[in-house]
Amino acid sequence: MKLLVTGGAGFIGANFVHYTLGHRPGHSITVLDALTYAGNEANLSTVKDKIRFVKGNITDTKLVDELVAEHDIVVHFAAESHNDNSLKDPSPFIQTNLIGTFTILEAVRKHGKRLHHISTDEVYGDLELDDPAKFTADTPYNPSSPYSSSKAGSDLLVRAWVRSFGIHATISNCSNNYGPYQHVEKFIPRQITNILTGEKPKLYGQGENVRDWIHVDDHNAAVWSIIEHGRNGETYLIGADGELNNKVVLELILELMDKPKDWYDHVNDRPGHDMRYAIDATKLRNELGWRPTYTNFRDGLAATIAWYAQNEDWWKPQKAETEQKYKNQGH
Ligand code: NAD
Ligand code: DAU
Repeated sequence: MKLLVTGGAGFIGANFVHYTLGHRPGHSITVLDALTYAGNEANLSTVKDKIRFVKGNITDTKLVDELVAEHDIVVHFAAESHNDNSLKDPSPFIQTNLIGTFTILEAVRKHGKRLHHISTDEVYGDLELDDPAKFTADTPYNPSSPYSSSKAGSDLLVRAWVRSFGIHATISNCSNNYGPYQHVEKFIPRQITNILTGEKPKLYGQGENVRDWIHVDDHNAAVWSIIEHGRNGETYLIGADGELNNKVVLELILELMDKPKDWYDHVNDRPGHDMRYAIDATKLRNELGWRPTYTNFRDGLAATIAWYAQNEDWWKPQKAETEQKYKNQGH
């Protein structure tokens, strides 16, 4: 297949490119990425001779039209992805996540190509800490932030294009990813790189909020299961039963990095902060036979810490600017 991977210079997209070259050889890959603050060509430097890279914006109708026409499937990762940024300035989230997805859908419709749309569990809103329920594909949409509502809107556009125009598309909604190449604005890399630079980690509120962690390679393996065996028009939730609260994750990072358990600052909480996410991935497991391979979070986290420790050149250039942004927001 000829794959057009949008957002392939970002965290999950770049890992998807590496995963595909390693586990699904024989496909040709074009990455379309605008190289925003979150995109980094260095994420693809070791594979640059094996792929085609196009620097461009998914809202560019002409460019998207030409590229979609040349490929069999669009695997659509490109997005503005960070909640805190969306609370400061929602505008790029509307442009990229809504207009960008619309632009791709129109090209897919015109050229009769397939789309796999990458989305998030945040479209379902949040759960109470003591709620036995988990999100399923039947959970009503109830997003909280400009980020999650723009992703919810993009999912609904995809569903409408399937129903009204008969395009061939699938959607996946995944929980919180961790692993290499994740921008230092995100929770786990921020705390690891704070410790590596002698700065205390920063916990929002009391750290009771629960996230359902999954290794990025398990996410991308699930995406491949859907590409290969997913039913047209279906939504698949991706999660690996990795529920942990932020305080527990932070204490584990501190322990693995030989710091005292309480060596962190409490900082301002996020406005509208979702309390808990939890995925029921039964459909993905039963229908497509997918299983996570990173079943020990401690080991996956230790490997991620080692990656950041060994790749200072990769994250150092982003660090000061990111921390300044946080300081301005009281985080
Ligand atoms: P990221 O912010 O690390 O990467 C986003 C990439 O998209 C960057 O390379 C950026 O340059 C590119 N991009 C942004 N706007 C663009 C535009 N207008 N045109 C072209 N390229 C553009 O994000 P990520 O964490 O890798 O997330 C990828 C996808 O997965 C997103 O759709 C996100 O909603 C979804 N997702 C993320 C997580 C997570 O835990 N990170 C979980 C579930 C779903
Ligand atoms: O659930 C999937 C989503 O996970 C994706 O759709 C998003 O793209 C991705 O960014 C992530 O969203 P979160 O908002 O859950 O991730 P973030 O890394 O920003 O924060 C994780 C938790 O940690 C959240 O409860 C806020 C908290 N936090 C975050 C930062 C940056 C802190 O306590 N301290 C911090 O410094």
